[in-house]
Amino acid sequence: MNFRSLRWVHWIPAILAAVLLLPAAATAQPTADTSAAAPSVPAKASNKPEGAQSSDYVGSETCKACHEEQYNSWEKSPHWKTTLDTKGGPSHQGCEGCHGPGSEHVAGGGDVTKIFTFQKVSAKVINERCMTCHEGGTQHMNAINSVHAKNDVSCIACHSPHHATQPEFLLTKAQPELCYGCHLAQKATFEMPFHHRVNERLVQCSDCHNPHGTVEAKQVRTSAAQDAVCFTCHADKRGPFVYEHEPIKVEGCQTCHTPHGSPNPHMLKTSNVNQLCLSCHTSSFANAPGIPSFHNQAAQYQACTLCHVQVHGSNVDHWYFR
Ligand code: HEC
Ligand code: HEC
Ligand code: HEC
Ligand code: HEC
Ligand code: HEC
Ligand code: HEC
Ligand code: HEC
Ligand code: HEC
Ligand code: HEC
Ligand code: HEC
Repeated sequence: MNFRSLRWVHWIPAILAAVLLLPAAATAQPTADTSAAAPSVPAKASNKPEGAQSSDYVGSETCKACHEEQYNSWEKSPHWKTTLDTKGGPSHQGCEGCHGPGSEHVAGGGDVTKIFTFQKVSAKVINERCMTCHEGGTQHMNAINSVHAKNDVSCIACHSPHHATQPEFLLTKAQPELCYGCHLAQKATFEMPFHHRVNERLVQCSDCHNPHGTVEAKQVRTSAAQDAVCFTCHADKRGPFVYEHEPIKVEGCQTCHTPHGSPNPHMLKTSNVNQLCLSCHTSSFANAPGIPSFHNQAAQYQACTLCHVQVHGSNVDHWYFR
């Protein structure tokens, strides 16, 4: 038997499927894109002005002649990869993928009125320009409607294609300084005695927030399982437990904890654990039959968590003793 030809036959259904599905795949919006960094080239949007011809594009090598500095920064950035995009054509490649067609600019010896410069334009216009290539993937699904976009914070408030100071993601500054530049109030919360170690660079703002927007309030991310973001790192609190503590499932971690930082140990919302517990478990139950008398706060003070150790839930004990 001829194995080589057999292997060929094996591929035919796959090739057929690929050919048939190609047009659909090109227009479909990716919903769960794990390779979030790879932008798709959408068929509709483009930085191409109406009526622009291929001949209006001169190519990056031409720009290099007069803008060597920008050419060099671009060549070292991931944006050089746009030159490999044969599907999008010249309007999606190189300098002109962002700055638009350059033939008139060049013909005019560098006429600045004939090229898109990112200056004196609204955040909306800038965002749309970048989004022609970056609207795909889970990272950017909500970018147009993000709190940042709605408050006129554009992509280039955080990213700089030519003057990035960070080796990754073309950021203008490293976190958390980047964010503190505009969110000074949050800086104070991370300086509290008990805090997520963001200033120490153990945890990043963007671990919990997506600066490009999310479907949650406050641009808070969700875990991979679409659950509270806290579970990404505190998986032991996820359960499921045989004996769940209702507020954790229903109201979430922030019922008892502040997410950034707190003057209280374990980043609790109250300085005294009992105060927290008693905000829901009224002390009146102390007099109920079968309930130990030491529950009576007036008689004796003991931290609730001294006995109810597993306040996040337990698999063995109804009262979270272990
Ligand atoms: C990913 C989009 C993008 C690409 C690709 C790009 N630029 Fe820019 N360019 C910008 C933005 C945004 C600015 C505004 C300054 C900034 O934020 O870095 C800018 C600014 C400039 C400036 C003004 C001076 C400066 O340094 O700020 C020049 C000149 C320029 N670009 C030329 C080029 C050339 C030449 C290429 C190709 C080699 C290129 N650009 C590729 C987005 C881009
Ligand atoms: C013949 C030389 C020449 C070529 C080729 C050329 N430019 Fe320019 N460009 C200039 C001059 C001159 C200026 C204005 C000088 C200045 O103000 O910095 C300019 C200004 C710009 C600016 C605005 C800079 C600012 O400070 O706002 C951008 C963006 C730009 N060019 C992009 C491009 C791109 C993209 C290409 C290739 C498509 C290109 N240029 C090709 C000469 C050239
Ligand atoms: C408020 C700051 C901020 C704004 C505004 C912002 N970004 Fe980002 N961006 C970041 C940070 C921080 C990262 C680092 C990755 C991370 O941890 O999420 C990032 C990562 C990225 C990445 C690479 C990572 C990935 O998974 O895709 C791309 C591409 C990107 N941003 C594009 C954009 C575009 C396009 C816009 C405008 C629509 C934009 N960003 C607006 C802060 C910002
Ligand atoms: C013509 C298409 C195109 C446009 C327009 C475009 N990008 Fe990109 N961008 C890309 C490609 C392609 C990559 C590389 C993706 C990869 O590495 O897989 C990229 C990567 C990035 C990254 C990730 C860098 C890293 O280190 O991983 C950031 C951030 C980014 N772009 C921001 C922007 C911003 C801001 C704008 C608007 C000023 C913009 N892009 C406009 C195509 C584009
Ligand atoms: C250029 C200024 C600027 C930078 C830089 C910036 N932000 Fe913002 N951010 C804003 C503005 C303006 C708002 C909307 C008003 C507000 O809520 O403060 C906002 C809103 C937010 C919100 C939502 C708050 C709410 O009430 O819904 C979060 C979360 C946030 N930013 C996180 C970040 C993170 C994380 C970074 C760093 C990666 C960052 N921001 C960088 C300006 C900025
Ligand atoms: C451990 C996760 C986590 C980290 C790290 C984190 N945040 Fe938050 N942040 C949250 C949560 C959760 C909320 C929502 C609080 C609420 O709903 O009241 C929030 C709320 C916010 C808000 C809305 C206003 C407020 O204070 O409630 C801003 C702005 C913000 N964060 C910015 C930042 C910045 C800037 C950083 C980094 C310096 C950061 N966050 C780091 C989880 C985090
Ligand atoms: C990116 C990972 C990460 C995420 C996401 C995260 N945490 Fe944390 N958390 C940590 C780390 C690491 C520590 C250890 C603190 C230390 O040693 O500085 C910690 C500590 C804590 C502590 C204090 C523990 C103690 O004994 O003092 C609490 C409470 C806490 N996290 C709650 C939360 C809540 C609530 C959320 C969601 C809003 C959350 N965490 C999201 C990484 C994370
Ligand atoms: C009903 C109030 C309550 C809720 C809701 C709650 N916690 Fe706690 N958490 C506490 C108390 C009280 C402590 C301190 C326990 C102690 O002193 O032994 C604590 C301690 C912690 C600690 C540090 C000690 C440890 O057990 O690792 C972490 C981390 C933590 N909580 C994370 C979370 C996360 C994540 C969530 C959401 C899934 C959450 N908590 C929800 C009350 C709560
Ligand atoms: C936000 C409200 C809330 C807070 C705060 C809270 N609990 Fe609860 N707790 C509940 C609810 C609701 C239940 C389940 C209803 C029930 O069975 O009484 C429950 C159940 C319990 C139970 C099991 C009782 C039973 O009969 O099933 C114990 C024990 C308990 N909580 C201890 C604590 C301790 C200790 C704290 C403080 C660390 C605390 N709770 C904080 C709301 C809260
Ligand atoms: C010295 C240990 C101890 C301390 C401290 C303690 N408990 Fe208890 N708790 C118990 C015991 C024992 C029971 C009864 C279990 C049983 O019925 O078998 C109980 C039962 C409960 C129940 C269930 C009551 C019911 O109706 O079923 C709740 C709720 C509760 N405790 C909350 C608290 C709160 C809130 C505090 C702090 C103010 C606290 N406990 C402090 C040991 C303690």
